[in-house]
Amino acid sequence: MPEIKFMPDDRIIQVEIGTSLLTAAAQAEIFIKSGCGGKGTCGACKVVVLNGEPQVIGTGNLTPEQLAKGVRLACQTIVQGDLTIEVPPESRLQEHQVLLGDSQKGLLRESEHDLLEKFGHHPLATKQRIVLSAPTLTENTNDWARLHMELRRVLKAGDKPIHIPLSVLQHLPEILRKANWDVSVTLTDLESGFMVTNVEAGNDNPLFGLAIDIGTTTVVVYLIELSSGQIVDQQGSYNKQARYGDDVISRIVFAVENAENLQEIRQAVLETINDLLDKLLSRHSNSPKDIASAVVAGNTTMTQLFLGVDPKYIRLEPYIPTMSTVPFVTARDAGMHMLPEALVHCYPSVASYVGGDIVAGTLVTDLANEEDITLFIDIGTNGEIVLGNQDWLVSCACSAGPSFEGGGITFGMRAMPGAIERVVIDPDTLDVSLKVIGKCLPVGICGSGLVDCVAKLLIVGIIDRAGNFQLGHSSGSERLRATADDKEFVLAWAHQAGGKKDVVITENDVKNIIRAKGAVYAGIRSLLNMVAVDIEMISRIVIAGGFGNYLNVHDSIQIGLLPDLEPERFEFIGNSSVKGARLALLSQAAWREAEELGRKMTYVELSVGATFMDEYVSALFLPHTDLSLFPSCH
Ligand code: FES
Repeated sequence: MPEIKFMPDDRIIQVEIGTSLLTAAAQAEIFIKSGCGGKGTCGACKVVVLNGEPQVIGTGNLTPEQLAKGVRLACQTIVQGDLTIEVPPESRLQEHQVLLGDSQKGLLRESEHDLLEKFGHHPLATKQRIVLSAPTLTENTNDWARLHMELRRVLKAGDKPIHIPLSVLQHLPEILRKANWDVSVTLTDLESGFMVTNVEAGNDNPLFGLAIDIGTTTVVVYLIELSSGQIVDQQGSYNKQARYGDDVISRIVFAVENAENLQEIRQAVLETINDLLDKLLSRHSNSPKDIASAVVAGNTTMTQLFLGVDPKYIRLEPYIPTMSTVPFVTARDAGMHMLPEALVHCYPSVASYVGGDIVAGTLVTDLANEEDITLFIDIGTNGEIVLGNQDWLVSCACSAGPSFEGGGITFGMRAMPGAIERVVIDPDTLDVSLKVIGKCLPVGICGSGLVDCVAKLLIVGIIDRAGNFQLGHSSGSERLRATADDKEFVLAWAHQAGGKKDVVITENDVKNIIRAKGAVYAGIRSLLNMVAVDIEMISRIVIAGGFGNYLNVHDSIQIGLLPDLEPERFEFIGNSSVKGARLALLSQAAWREAEELGRKMTYVELSVGATFMDEYVSALFLPHTDLSLFPSCH
């Protein structure tokens, strides 16, 4: 098999002839951006062929100069023999700040701890030490009945049945006798009964569980000691499904092409989870058998792909997912490296675009137990919005597009080192000061930086309320300039930039941000209109999602992304999806409430009726066409 050497990593792998460089890189654990899922249209997967002669099946919009320098699209370049490939930094997915922002070990944070106290710390999986009397000729009860009887007594099971799967039953006689009738039994407490998931020689070793957030971009796994509730460790990485496209639609398109593709894309996320899990296990000298429970939260597409359930109808009108409540699956069926009979609980979805991650977030906000009205927003490629209180819950999803995650923006990037996150512009000279993540030279701008930047461009008069650039600005600054096909403002000159080229924001970028913020705000307004709730009646706005973590409330109001309310009403909760997974793992009551939330949340389809479109069009100004909605921005 040909050898492919990736530089500057100096990593060598062997792949079959006919493999694309995009796939080869993923096999080498080098993650290359692939916005279009390998169709050769986005240009994100550029690599440089340093040595060797691959087959090139497409060049997309690469220029003759780039081609002359050996630049190729990884998805359109096919291995025919040995190659040396350089993967430039701008083509790589890198661990970004969002992923690491929630890192913690030890005790749960205060708010989570309070919630756990409220629901009660009673993990989904528990272990019972059971000492049985050995059978005799006169006391000849069979093995399972003997264990079952004692379990009933210890668990105070009442009428609740206790089940044992065949695979555990098969080994029961030997285990009981080898352990001299002193055994440890692992069980999961379901509403329908207890399920025995393991019987082993008596021991008091701790039991562990996993809280997993399957994001479209990243996957995070927490290892948690169940009886203490302590977070032992966490590990995150990019979702290996990224090579099939950046968003859920590209993933669905790939998955539904044929049955092999569905299995392939399922394996990609399983591999991601198992790799993370294996790292956690080896770091803490645990065995897969110590992991007795898992809770998974993800959007509807991620959940269906994780389970290998055909996602085809999620993207076809009338956009119906296969299931809301997910049946319990064993780790064996799910394909996870843990106790084979352990149950994997997947958060329920509400609709195709309001998934288990949003239900998990809603649980963490505790909004369904409060009298006051809370607005919960998760901002990413989709803006998912939940509104309600203890009496009612409505939700919707609006497509914000990839701008807030840096997609479709000339120098857009995720929140990682080199990303501009704050911009200050002198109103007279238009000189710029920047705050850059990682305190290094800027190479691009992330979502929170873009919100900040657009707000500042508006305040100093570089753009008007429709986002049009004002080239006749009184400063006469050379930062503001026209190019052959756009107008732009220079945020960092080439000699001050990490990429050695001017970092700019263009008029087209600003318009993309206006469309994205317009969609989110229109979603909020549509939901409020539907339930006849005035913005002032919202007592709390909770913002989730990696992007939300770093968002500046003032700037967000200035551009009309968030409602114009006092800053005290806003809260940021980071990755609420994994927090919900942690909570459910440690509390059966929390898990049951999550199931209930999934059932009682009403989903509003925004594409039905004209309300959303009217709201959207009105929101395509900074901050809005109706300035009375933004009194603080006058
Ligand atoms: Fe290669 Fe889009 S051009 S992934």
